Amino acid sequence: MVTLNPDYRKVKQSYLFSEITKRTKAFQASHPDAKIIRLGIGNTTEPLPEIICDALENASRRLGKRETYSGYGDEQGNSDLREAISKFYAKLGLTIPVGEIFVSDGAKSDLGNLMQIFEKGSVIAVQDPVYPAYVDTATISGHQIITMPCTPQNQFFPEMPKQPSVIYFCSPNNPTGAVASRSQLEQLVDHAMQTDSVVVFDAAYSPFISDPKLPRSIYEIEGAKKCAIEINSFSKSAGFTGVRLGWTVVPKDLVVSNTKEGEANAVWNRRQTTFFNGASNIAQAGGLAVLTNEGQEACQKVVDYYKNNASMIRAGLGESGITVYGGRHAPYIWAQMPNGMKSWDAFDKFLTEANVVVTPGSGFGSQGEGFVRFSAFGHQENVQEAIERVKKLKF
Ligand code: MLT
Repeated sequence: MVTLNPDYRKVKQSYLFSEITKRTKAFQASHPDAKIIRLGIGNTTEPLPEIICDALENASRRLGKRETYSGYGDEQGNSDLREAISKFYAKLGLTIPVGEIFVSDGAKSDLGNLMQIFEKGSVIAVQDPVYPAYVDTATISGHQIITMPCTPQNQFFPEMPKQPSVIYFCSPNNPTGAVASRSQLEQLVDHAMQTDSVVVFDAAYSPFISDPKLPRSIYEIEGAKKCAIEINSFSKSAGFTGVRLGWTVVPKDLVVSNTKEGEANAVWNRRQTTFFNGASNIAQAGGLAVLTNEGQEACQKVVDYYKNNASMIRAGLGESGITVYGGRHAPYIWAQMPNGMKSWDAFDKFLTEANVVVTPGSGFGSQGEGFVRFSAFGHQENVQEAIERVKKLKF
């Protein structure tokens, strides 16, 4: 008998952001004149800098000529891009050799795919609230999930799990916008070393960090190469949400218990060469332009634009008497609703009374109940308008 993977029955019928889209579309259909402003999913809105558009265009033109056409590239990514990523780490004072860098079609794919290299039934520890893709992909992959509550009381830095685990950790955090300090990341790495745990560090939002004292990579912490994998993305830093490009670092020093140094790297390489034929060569050419000095400068301006939106949202919600967290080194503002209002009730209120879409905090886990997440990705004038509308609401 053929059966579907029963673990799909363990996850909610629709993914959080699909559910929000469905509800928003239903509201729009019944209120065709409503000018809805979407601050729900963290979807970039600003145009790509010229230097990146040129690189994407030239790469597609090269495909149109016999002399410059290219087909499959290396599954691990083109060597020039991997070298540029290695240099990106060098600017942080870190040595990450090309052989430890794997280019992907985005962080979301890899954070799910990584679940395949751990034995089924492994314990996956996630922050609660958490980006739902970690939980859903872990469940579908047959692992056990344990949660690490992150609340205002613990400054969104959790107590570490008691048992050896694969610890998914995101900083700057989606959804709370909290950013971990160096000493907190030292605790995380120490804990992983002492308990034979592995950290999967999601650094997708690191370009939003503006305080040089805050680590942008887990490898800034001593010993992390022995216990941590890092995922990164061009989505939020360079507007590649639609282009699709990211990377994963699996250090050769990483030792998963009962394996030798280099084995985790080799297993991931086997996974990628078997299941993946490499990221789009056009996207990789764009990524190379992102990592030039000029590209980095241009992308940082766009990140700063979103950070300015985040400040506006923080200020506006504060004026409305809503307690806000995050949004300083992250594009997300974690807003605690007054009077014990539930997350989905708040979602409905924002949608129906202000025509503003937010993400209900409870969709990120039980500790998110009573919160909603505002995304700072949007045109500035829309964010301004959304805030003006929200300020008129009575709670
Ligand atoms: C989010 O809104 O949490 C993210 O944009 C989703 C994603 O990056 O896939």
